[in-house]
Amino acid sequence: MAGLHCGDSAWARAASEWINGSEVFDSIEKNQTKVWVFRNSADEIVGFGSLNATGWKRWPPPGGPRTRLLYIPQLGIDSRFHGKPEHPEWRYSKQVMDYLIYEARMLATEIRETKPPSKHVDLLTLHVHKDNVVAQKLYKRFEFERLPGFEENDLYLMSHKLNLSTDD
Ligand SMILES: CC(C)(COP(=O)(O)OP(=O)(O)OC[C@H]1O[C@@H](n2cnc3c(N)ncnc32)[C@H](O)[C@@H]1OP(=O)(O)O)[C@@H](O)C(=O)NCCC(=O)NCCS
Repeated sequence: MAGLHCGDSAWARAASEWINGSEVFDSIEKNQTKVWVFRNSADEIVGFGSLNATGWKRWPPPGGPRTRLLYIPQLGIDSRFHGKPEHPEWRYSKQVMDYLIYEARMLATEIRETKPPSKHVDLLTLHVHKDNVVAQKLYKRFEFERLPGFEENDLYLMSHKLNLSTDD
């Protein structure tokens, strides 16, 4: 993955460092995080996404009941491919989000089929820097909602209610 460069902002550098350094391996080892690397038809690395199931968390924080959540630890697109391809239907950001939400639904469904109800999950969550307007716009387009009043280390918390109906 050496060379994936998501941009120069603090949050973009954090994404590049996460995937190019040791954090990705720590996350895989400690949290069983799944990581996907996306390539285009020219076999260029376009970006990456990740997903895990958290341990017990208070939701909504800080005082809600203990629950488990699905969580996107990090995602990013190489800056050469930001806003590309221009057609919104084919935008790489959309393809990455579509895929992560699909994988989250698969994981939530598997947990429903194999674990007791106390472990079931239906919320996909993530942190986003409060000034990362581009990512926030992207997440809102995918029906992530900001948790009102939550801000920790300049990060907002957003969640997306997964559609776990079997109809589609
Ligand atoms: C977040 C990221 C994956 C989005 O990919 P992208 O290709 O840049 O996304 P898009 O081109 O689809 O843009 C998303 C939205 O931001 C808007 N946007 C793009 N550049 C913008 C800018 N400079 N200012 C304001 N809005 C902007 C787009 O118009 C689009 O809005 P819309 O959905 O209303 O049309 C990518 O920017 C990235 O890798 N950023 C660095 C790493 C990062 O922030 N990761 C997320 C950590 S939580």
